[in-house]
Amino acid sequence: MTNLRLCAIAALLALAALGAFPRVAHPLERAAAGERCGTCHPKQRTLHEEGIHARDGVGCVGCHGGVGDATEAAAAHSGSFKGKLTREAVPAMCASCHADVKAMRPYGLSTDQYALYQQSGHGTKLREGDRRVAVCSDCHGAHDIRSPKDPEARTFVANIAATCGRCHGDAALIRERRLPNVHAEYGKSAHAKALMAHGGENAPSCVTCHGVHSAAPPETGTIHTVCGRCHGEQRDAFANGPHAAGMKAKNQAECSACHGSHEVKAFEPKDVPLECARCHAPMTKGAIVGRRIGREYAAAAAHVERAAQAVAKASAIPMRTEDHVERLADARTHLAEARVAVHTVRLEAIEEPLRRAGKVADEIERDLHDRRFVANTWKLLLIVFWFYVLGTAYLVRRARQATDQG
Ligand code: HEC
Ligand code: HEC
Ligand code: HEC
Ligand code: HEC
Ligand code: HEC
Ligand code: HEC
Ligand code: HEC
Ligand code: HEC
Ligand code: HEC
Repeated sequence: MTNLRLCAIAALLALAALGAFPRVAHPLERAAAGERCGTCHPKQRTLHEEGIHARDGVGCVGCHGGVGDATEAAAAHSGSFKGKLTREAVPAMCASCHADVKAMRPYGLSTDQYALYQQSGHGTKLREGDRRVAVCSDCHGAHDIRSPKDPEARTFVANIAATCGRCHGDAALIRERRLPNVHAEYGKSAHAKALMAHGGENAPSCVTCHGVHSAAPPETGTIHTVCGRCHGEQRDAFANGPHAAGMKAKNQAECSACHGSHEVKAFEPKDVPLECARCHAPMTKGAIVGRRIGREYAAAAAHVERAAQAVAKASAIPMRTEDHVERLADARTHLAEARVAVHTVRLEAIEEPLRRAGKVADEIERDLHDRRFVANTWKLLLIVFWFYVLGTAYLVRRARQATDQG
């Protein structure tokens, strides 16, 4: 009995080894080992060997199909060979592995890229037949795909703007479709500068605001949330003012309506009234409030500046000014609070920190004045003292000379 059973098992194993049971190969098992495609396609092979796919045995056949160990072109380009990969075919091809939960689990990679892409502006337009939109290989490359953590990857945080900019900064495409040159605009922004300076820790790249695979313009009504992820105080102030509801009702782009989306810019205090006047007619409440903000902010900022100059002068005398330097920082903090409060467009809320900034500047100026007065008085007393001492000495000498001669 046992012998019979052993024989049966041995026979089954032998059959299995001979490949009698057809087995559906998992995509990842179509291994690169022994592939000869590269002998006829050396350019693609060189690129592929530098990429992440080669590291874990994803070979040419994984993406293109075909017969890897064939030496003749016709034989190699047979079987599952997909032929020329069209742009329309690329996303589903990448997704054959990247949307496969089981295949991606060991690598800890998420499997949502394809589903998100399908909902993006790019994916939607591709389905409508627009072949100029981005497919996976436009952003990642086809043969030299690298992990986004690799500084050489097209998707590395510092390279993202350039990757998007190949199309969104392309002069011909922009002209043809009358698109804004968002790449050039972004390049001039404080955001791009901060990203390049600090390695992208806190500053937004294109995909921070648009989503990575789901890239679409933020809808009006959600923009303050997008910006508020980093500028929380301004967002809260904005939400507490009339603009949140007012702009939504008029379909205006919230934060972007004043600051722009790509070339985000701050305003000089003197330019605030001009900014408000873009939407508010001269004698309306909005314009009046805008003019007062501009005037009062400029006055407070100038006052703090005067105090700063007084401190600089005092420390050149030299005089102890550590306390004053600290107080000066307080005054500047109050100015910054006012710049946040501007987003409520409520005068009371803005005037309060401006008053505090002015008060601190006043205190600094007054204190320095008092100390200079004391210092000057001492100086005067010292002069009188030395005058007295030297005068007395002179008189004593004269008296002595007189007695010597006499
Ligand atoms: C013996 C040489 C040879 C081998 C081996 C070979 N190819 Fe090719 N391949 C060619 C030539 C030549 C062309 C261009 C002419 C043509 O379209 O047939 C080509 C074209 C292609 C194209 C472009 C098709 C198009 O229409 O633009 C792809 C993709 C491709 N090969 C992939 C592969 C893959 C994957 C393998 C391995 C499974 C492979 N090739 C093996 C010679 C070869
Ligand atoms: C990660 C998927 C992937 C792998 C792996 C891959 N390719 Fe490709 N290949 C593509 C895509 C996508 C295209 C279409 C062109 C594009 O989008 O740039 C392409 C295009 C090609 C072409 C057409 C000419 C060209 O460069 O556009 C050839 C030939 C080719 N691949 C050969 C190979 C060979 C040989 C290998 C293995 C060394 C390989 N590919 C590995 C995705 C891949
Ligand atoms: C045959 C299966 C397969 C196909 C098809 C495939 N990939 Fe991959 N891909 C993998 C595997 C497996 C890894 C993980 C490799 C590793 O970490 O060693 C990977 C890794 C990646 C990574 C790096 C992820 C990270 O964060 O490290 C990117 C990006 C990527 N693939 C993009 C693509 C794109 C774009 C395509 C289509 C042009 C594609 N892949 C087609 C299997 C595949
Ligand atoms: C418009 C450009 C763009 C397109 C199109 C695109 N990607 Fe990406 N992809 C990126 C960027 C940028 C990152 C890096 C994101 C990050 O660092 O947060 C990324 C990251 C990835 C990763 C790493 C894991 C992850 O989710 O962060 C994989 C895998 C990946 N993409 C696969 C794909 C596949 C598959 C497609 C096509 C269905 C695709 N990508 C289309 C830009 C793109
Ligand atoms: C291969 C070229 C190409 C690349 C690369 C590219 N895009 Fe696009 N993108 C397009 C085209 C074309 C459109 C459609 C423009 C139009 O006609 O309105 C578009 C549209 C968009 C839209 C608007 C979608 C809508 O619903 O209106 C956003 C947002 C966008 N892209 C963001 C990005 C970001 C972010 C990146 C980089 C991570 C990127 N794109 C990379 C070609 C590209
Ligand atoms: C700080 C957030 C932010 C960053 C960073 C950003 N965008 Fe935008 N983008 C927006 C907002 C908000 C809109 C919608 C503007 C509106 O409704 O007026 C938009 C609109 C767009 C549009 C549609 C423009 C149109 O009028 O059709 C495209 C395309 C686009 N962005 C691409 C990019 C690219 C490419 C980058 C990187 C070079 C980028 N964006 C960086 C926030 C951002
Ligand atoms: C990922 C975080 C992040 C997001 C999202 C973000 N910002 Fe910024 N923002 C920054 C950083 C960092 C700076 C630079 C601060 C600095 O250099 O002091 C900055 C600076 C600014 C400035 C000051 C510019 C200047 O010249 O001083 C304005 C205005 C601004 N952002 C508006 C916006 C708007 C509007 C949005 C949404 C469309 C937005 N930000 C989204 C991080 C972000
Ligand atoms: C009505 C026009 C307007 C709107 C809407 C608006 N801002 Fe401002 N923003 C200003 C003015 C005016 C200033 C103060 C002058 C300055 O420093 O730029 C400012 C300043 C800023 C600064 C720089 C602060 C500093 O300390 O220098 C940031 C960041 C900022 N706003 C972000 C936002 C965000 C985020 C939103 C949306 C929640 C938003 N703004 C909406 C007008 C506006
Ligand atoms: C992009 C257009 C736009 C800009 C720029 C703008 N506002 Fe407004 N503002 C609105 C809208 C929309 C409302 C809602 C009431 C309405 O529809 O007029 C509003 C309402 C107001 C109100 C309440 C009006 C009332 O009658 O109670 C004040 C105050 C105000 N804004 C002040 C300002 C100030 C100050 C600035 C400049 C820092 C400014 N706004 C810039 C669009 C704008």
